[in-house]
Amino acid sequence: MKLKYLGHSCFYGEINNIKWIIDPFITENPNCPISIDDLEDITHIFITHGHSDHFGDTIELCKKFEPIVITNVEIASYLNFLEIPAFGMQIGGRHKFPFGTVKMTPAIHSSTIDTAQGNIYGGNPGGFIFTFDNFTIYHAGDTGLMTDMELFQEDNIDIMMVPIGGFYTMDLDDAVRAVELVKPKISIPMHYNTFDLIKADPDEFKLKNIFSKTIIMDFGQEIDI
Ligand code: NI
Ligand code: MN
Repeated sequence: MKLKYLGHSCFYGEINNIKWIIDPFITENPNCPISIDDLEDITHIFITHGHSDHFGDTIELCKKFEPIVITNVEIASYLNFLEIPAFGMQIGGRHKFPFGTVKMTPAIHSSTIDTAQGNIYGGNPGGFIFTFDNFTIYHAGDTGLMTDMELFQEDNIDIMMVPIGGFYTMDLDDAVRAVELVKPKISIPMHYNTFDLIKADPDEFKLKNIFSKTIIMDFGQEIDI
């Protein structure tokens, strides 16, 4: 699987004929080295919650590529209102799609959607555990530390994408505790150094994280995994 970090909580991946992106915060993301014109044939979009640094360029990408969109019920119904099809899941729900299995996980956070008419309710914030082939990825979304994460040990997570920036989410010390609870094979820090309030040192996270391998991805870096 190819995995590319586009900064903040946005990751792009390619596996088989699938080109997926999660939390597509591209245009307004100061650390994202590409524009949406650089993306080709996006087949799947995952959105953890409605905040603009996660919902990002969803509407433009949907209009351009007509991908399968997987998010929560409220964001899905907002997209449906804009005549964009989307699957609206609920926290704890699991579904076997043709491409793999998706479970929506809880996140301790909030969720609103910015619209031209102001903020609207964005449902429960979440994260995703999704499986492509035999690859299981847990993208925690924006969340504080929660003991529920211990349950995800049984999902045998290969890669955990974990926020470390603090202020809006857990900081790197809590992120280390989160990794201890989930016990993934690999942890990738995210949601840091985009804004002043979420400055964090991923090397410090790597040093403190004795519970999994850490891969620090540079903004725009692509790895084969
Ligand atoms: Ni948020
Ligand atoms: Mn955020």
